[in-house]
Parts: sequence; C-alpha cells; structure tokens
Amino acid sequence: MAKICLCLTGKTLARDLEVLEKYRKFTDIAELRADCLEPDERFHIRKFPVMAGLPVILTIRRVGDGGKYAGHEGARITLLSRGLAFAEADPRRNFSYVDLEDDLRVPGLEEAARAFGTRIIRSFHDLNGVDSDLAKKIRSLRWVGDEIAKVAVMPQCLDDVRLVYQAAGETRDVEKILLCMGDYGVNTRILAERMGSYLSYTTVRGEEGIPIAASGQLDPRELGTLYRFRDISYKTKIFAVTGFPLKVSASPQFFNTVFGIENEDAVYIPVPSDNIESMLRFSEEIGILGISVTVPHKETVIPFLNITTENVKSIGACNTIMASQNGWIGHNTDAPGFSESLLEFSGLKDLRKKKISIIGAGGVARSVASEVFRLRGKAMVLNRTVMRAREIALPYRFAWGGLDSQGIKMMEKYSDIIIQTTSVGMEPDTGYDPLQYYNFTGNELVVDLIYKPPKTLCLLRAEAAGCKTLNGYDMLMRQARHQYKFFMEKEFPASLANRLEF
Ligand code: ATR
Repeated sequence: MAKICLCLTGKTLARDLEVLEKYRKFTDIAELRADCLEPDERFHIRKFPVMAGLPVILTIRRVGDGGKYAGHEGARITLLSRGLAFAEADPRRNFSYVDLEDDLRVPGLEEAARAFGTRIIRSFHDLNGVDSDLAKKIRSLRWVGDEIAKVAVMPQCLDDVRLVYQAAGETRDVEKILLCMGDYGVNTRILAERMGSYLSYTTVRGEEGIPIAASGQLDPRELGTLYRFRDISYKTKIFAVTGFPLKVSASPQFFNTVFGIENEDAVYIPVPSDNIESMLRFSEEIGILGISVTVPHKETVIPFLNITTENVKSIGACNTIMASQNGWIGHNTDAPGFSESLLEFSGLKDLRKKKISIIGAGGVARSVASEVFRLRGKAMVLNRTVMRAREIALPYRFAWGGLDSQGIKMMEKYSDIIIQTTSVGMEPDTGYDPLQYYNFTGNELVVDLIYKPPKTLCLLRAEAAGCKTLNGYDMLMRQARHQYKFFMEKEFPASLANRLEF
C-alpha cells in the first residue's frame, strides 16, 4: 500500500513540527528536508524522529537535484552523519530512512544507517527529461537489496510520462519510489499505488514559510480526501480530464466528490496533454476508461475516434470519450448540458421566434449552435476569425460575422439572447470583454459560459445595464452529470443533483 509522505520544508524544526501536527491524519511518513532548515537548526536534526513520532526520512537535497543545499559535499556528508549518529536500539527513535543520491558513495555512512535499521533510499533526479531506458536505471540504482530505489524525473511531454508508467510495469519486483514532477506528473503522484511506488510526496498548501518541495506535489489533504489515495488499488477505475494547458477545472472536484459519496472504487485525475493522440496512447497504457476532453482537443479528437456517435458527427465536437473493446467512442455532453441550462434559465420550452447571438466559434460554440438550431432559434455566429464563424453558421443557415464594429452592429438584430463561448475574460486574464463595443439595452438574456470568475467583465456590464445573466457553471455541472452516465453506466444520483457546490 503506497504511503503519503509529507515533505517538511520549514526553516526551523519547530515550524516543521507545527505543520506535521496539523496534517498528521493525512501523513504516513514525514520527510525532513534538512536543506531547507536554517544553518543553526541543522545542528539539531538528530532529535527530529522522536519529536515527530512517526517514520521520518532524512534528506539533504542539493541545488542541482532541485533542493536548497548549496554547501560543500563534505559538509553535507557530515550533516548526514550527524542525523544518523547516536543511534538508539529502539528504531522509532532513529531516522527510519535516509535519502542518499545515486552518485554519493560513503560506505561508512551506509553501514551506520544499516546497523540501526535506517533504510537507504537511493535516489536519482533528472530535471531535464526521461532516460530512454528507465527500467534499467531503476534496477541499477540499488547497491544492496534492502535499499529503496527512487527515481524522480521531469517529463517534457505526456509521452515521457507514459514511458515512466511502462518502466514501472517492467520493474514490479523492485521496491521503489517512482514519480514524474511538474504538471504532467500530477497523475503519477495520485496513482503511486498503481505505479508500484512505495510512497507519494506531498507538501502542504497555504502554510506560511513552507514552500512546495517539488513542482507538481499535491497537498496531503487533497490527496487523501479528494483523490482518496488510500483507497486506490489496481482495481480502481480511472477517469481523466485532458486539455492543454489544463486550465482551472472544477471537474476533478465534481467527479471525485461524487465517487466518494457514492462509495465508487473510481478516481478522476487531471492529465494535461499537448496533443490528443499522445493522450490516447497514455490512456491505453494505464487503462483509463473515460475522458473528459476540453480545450483545445474537442474537435481534433474526432479523427482518432473508432466510433463516432451521430451527435458528435453532426455537432463536429466531442467532449467525452469512452474506452471500449472496439476502441474509443466519442460523445457530446456539452450540447444537452447547454440546452438544459439555457431553457431553465430562460423559462422557455424552445427558442422559436428568438434571435440569438453566439460569440465564438470553437468546440463549445459548435455544441451551442447545434442546440440553438435544434430548439428552432435563429442565430448569428460572431468570431474573431470570420471563416470559423461561417463554417459553423452555414449548415444551420445562421448569419455570421467578425467580432468587429460591423459584427457588433449586426448583433442589435440578434439580441434576445447573447451566448458568449470564447475564453476571453477567463481567469487569470479577467480584464478583457469580447463584447466591449456592444451596448447592452437591458432587455437581452446574457449567458457567458465562463465560470471562473463567476462574473466576467462582460456579465458585469450586462448586469449593470439591467440584463438577466447566467454563467457557465450550471452548464458544466449538467454536462458532467451526463458524462457520469457514460462513465459509470448508470444514472447520476438524483439526490446529489442540486446538492453539490464547488
Ligand atoms: P472551446 O472548445 O472552449 O470553444 P477553442 O476551440 O479553443 O475553445 O475556441 C476558443 C474560441 O475563443 C474561438 O472562437 C476563438 O476565436 P478564434 O477562432 O478567432 O481563435 C476565441 N478566442 C480566443 N481568444 C480570443 C481573443 N483574444 N479574442 C477574441 N476571440 C478569442
């Protein structure tokens, strides 16, 4: 069972201890990052295992390996020796583990560790990429059988992460810690058990004076409660959300919370993918069953589907894919999510006699346009790149135009409902308004499908003019409930429909 390791990166032992106390419930092992301590504090590290009261790893990470220790190697070895000195017969009073790098060879230190049951973690860090034969590297790390091999690499793309999972599969017999750093590697930290990794490193968020130990580390509480790390096994069903860059997304919160309440043996992980083809390869490697597809892959995923549902074919966008015996099946849940949300908001049964402006011509705009057509609305599509607006509008006989003064003028004739689908105004760039030259009369219903921030500049302006407004949160939740149906092959629990807030 993979353990949760809390990295302690405070400047003093007292501060580290304070943090440990607060997060003890989520911690199996602590790592004392002595390189982060103030020089005076380093003299006292020997006392820490007793203070901590749980197994502790002693690590003094060098700058070149991503740590803070910039002193001489001799002084570092002396400090390591100080940590292991005066070993006691009760192993709980000693460091349980010591992290010694692959290139550090100090037999005296290793003997001292072994004599009193301190296990050696033999570590290798590659901050530049992934070794082409990682399995061989993992096997060669341990000098003596009772050592734990540790490999931490910085993937440059999702294919690199896939190679790490492959290496994990090839070294099942080796006791090891294996992880990818950075945004690409977050999934390796959640799926440590799946990788056969001894532990997963975490750092607390929002604690003053406790910097993140390595990029991509999760908060122990998030790992333990949201991702239910301790329940993940080889049988756990894996689902994912992918996009690039994978921006603010509420869906891991949504799905993991629902899985937790429903006691499903399932986890939902964020996986940034630079291209959708490598995401599919990756998913096949680790056995992901279903994927929420977001920007910019909603259209580009279609050629890679083995089975394309009618919905996806006619809309030209796909936001949900499922693994099957016959390959990847694509669905679209944005479309029903959007129309349900719009109809409830407007109190309408359909869009007959309504003149509608759709702003944007990306994957979401395609779903919106197809639903507006199905509900018999008359629309105009406006987009920065006019050709894309035309492409969406033509099949439905909608009007189209550019996001320029002429287009904005035309909006006056399509102003019963305005639906903003672009990413302009989304966090972190909240200072932009794609409709800055449009003057709201106060009679329009205005929908902005962005949900972070809850009110974009565009929505705030519309509201100030007296318009009724809606953001994209409701649509997101509704499309996620449809996605749940595909993922779990059953209805979304009705009791949760209006109960969850993220
Ligand atoms: P999604 O799948 O969420 O619709 P997308 O396919 O990347 O995402 O589409 C993004 C939309 O936002 C497009 O309509 C895009 O306009 P272009 O087709 O001209 O690229 C629009 N968009 C993005 N940045 C924009 C900006 N700064 N100004 C105006 N429109 C923008």
